[in-house]
Amino acid sequence: MTILVTGGCGFIGSNFVLDWMAASDEPVVNLDKLTYAGNPANLRGLEGSNRYSFVHAGIEDGETVGVLLREHGVRAIVNFAAESHVDRSISGPEAFIQTNVVGTLRLLEAAKGYWAELGGAARDGFRFLHVSTDEVYGTLGPDEAPFTEETPFKPNSPYAASKASSDHLVRSYRETYGLPVLTTNCSNNYGPLHFPEKLIPLIIHNALAGKDLPIYGDGQQVRDWLYVGDHCSAIRRVLEAGTPGETYNVGGNTEKQNIDVVRTICAMLDAARPRPDGNAYAAQIAFVKDRPGHDRRYAIDAGKIRRDLGWAPKETFESGMAKTVRWYLDNPAWFESVTSGAYRDWVAKHYA
Ligand code: NAD
Ligand code: DAU
Repeated sequence: MTILVTGGCGFIGSNFVLDWMAASDEPVVNLDKLTYAGNPANLRGLEGSNRYSFVHAGIEDGETVGVLLREHGVRAIVNFAAESHVDRSISGPEAFIQTNVVGTLRLLEAAKGYWAELGGAARDGFRFLHVSTDEVYGTLGPDEAPFTEETPFKPNSPYAASKASSDHLVRSYRETYGLPVLTTNCSNNYGPLHFPEKLIPLIIHNALAGKDLPIYGDGQQVRDWLYVGDHCSAIRRVLEAGTPGETYNVGGNTEKQNIDVVRTICAMLDAARPRPDGNAYAAQIAFVKDRPGHDRRYAIDAGKIRRDLGWAPKETFESGMAKTVRWYLDNPAWFESVTSGAYRDWVAKHYA
């Protein structure tokens, strides 16, 4: 038995592969296109393992996926591969359609062809788990109830629209062809190995580098933060016990305004690594132009996965953030390795 993970060199995918390899005996094949967000060094520690293999290809390459599924007798696909950054989708939506929509379609086609050849227990046990986002539901007002699995899709960014499209395709493969699919819609993750274009690693990186800490608009937008290890445990649980055709919302029940998240990071750094000049890191905060179409609030109702599958997060925001800040302080070489010329070009253009 083997699982095929796609996008396993990205933030959540690499945390998932590392956790899986530690918690299970089952082999993992990791298929990743290695875009700017994919970093094989995240999984360097697994290179000697005979349970881990890496394949450099895109999910849109249905032929390669088909060969891998058959060669390894794959029993489940976990699809993390995506273009994932909202700001990049605003400046260049095309890649989001290619990977998140066309790529997911090709992956589904490859899975369907393979699954049709299976018989008996292998056919009954096969799963296609699609990792998606709460952004498909749009934005919430301050007093609205959190998103449930029944909330209608109302995506506001090209990224969210591309993920909503992929979710619809996944659903349609269940309804039309009977493919045993599962979908998870998760809130904002944070933790180790997070590419520093996203808020939390960007703020830690910039703070330590003595740079501005950019806050879009008034900084009062709300996100529902979940430690990445808890997202990984939710995906494992859904794979193990989720009902095919169902979707599961995953979240940390931890709504925070962006400005408060940034102030928390600053305070943690003040304590752990005081600035040489004795000033507080919060002095580096800079309010900048808002993101177009910026969703005001996300919040997840994770009642279904808790009730039906017994999943709950282990980390609080405080414990997860303490681990996260500590990890970046202990791994300065990781930041250095991912902030290449291409990263600097994005930062220069986006924050100009
Ligand atoms: P990421 O951008 O860090 O990583 C994406 C990975 O996918 C990279 O390794 C990249 O090389 C790979 N990839 C991109 N295009 C590919 C293609 N065509 N074929 C194969 N590989 C490709 O993303 P992430 O933050 O780890 O998110 C992973 C998944 O989880 C995404 O589907 C995202 O929508 C979803 N998600 C993310 C969050 C979050 O807070 N980061 C929350 C909920 C859901
Ligand atoms: O909700 C789940 C989603 O969370 C995932 O589907 C996405 O893949 C993931 O990128 C994330 O999307 P967000 O847009 O919420 O994350 P980001 O880290 O880009 O931004 C978090 C908040 O911080 C958001 O309100 C925008 C704001 N922000 C972000 C950056 C990069 C800033 O104020 N300044 C910044 O420089």
